Amino acid sequence: MTTRILFVCLGNICRSPAAEGVFRTLAPEIETDSAGTGDWHVGKPPHPPMQRAAGARGLDISDLRARQISPADFDRFDLIVGMDASNRADIEALRPAGNATPVTLLTQYAPRAGIDHVPDPYFTGDFDGVLDLIEEAARGLRASL
Ligand code: 4NP
Repeated sequence: MTTRILFVCLGNICRSPAAEGVFRTLAPEIETDSAGTGDWHVGKPPHPPMQRAAGARGLDISDLRARQISPADFDRFDLIVGMDASNRADIEALRPAGNATPVTLLTQYAPRAGIDHVPDPYFTGDFDGVLDLIEEAARGLRASL
């Protein structure tokens, strides 16, 4: 049974905290967390433009703080969900020997055709568009559990 889900992106200040914020509201019975593959923003709250875009939808993600994913997360979570292929490769590089925790991409659960990654709004500036995609995929993820 999937009861603990970790969302992972590069910096843990835009996409994965947004996914955590969306999913913990949608599925409060699931334990959710997020982490980054990189360590640049460890300890910081979500990027202010992402906090504002989430806040406009009634999602308060100001309590979240960035951390870096570690091999121990493979034992702590039942499912690890990345945002793009680069995240997935970086996550897989940390997998402990013998661990079988599934690692998927959030877009696998989105009903939109032809989308294979969550674009990084830190670079595109499209915080609202990314939240639309994350909300759709989060509903799909919930339905898949
Ligand atoms: P995220 O976006 O992976 O969605 O949190 C990023 C935020 C910051 C950086 C990279 C990605 N950065 O390189 O500082």
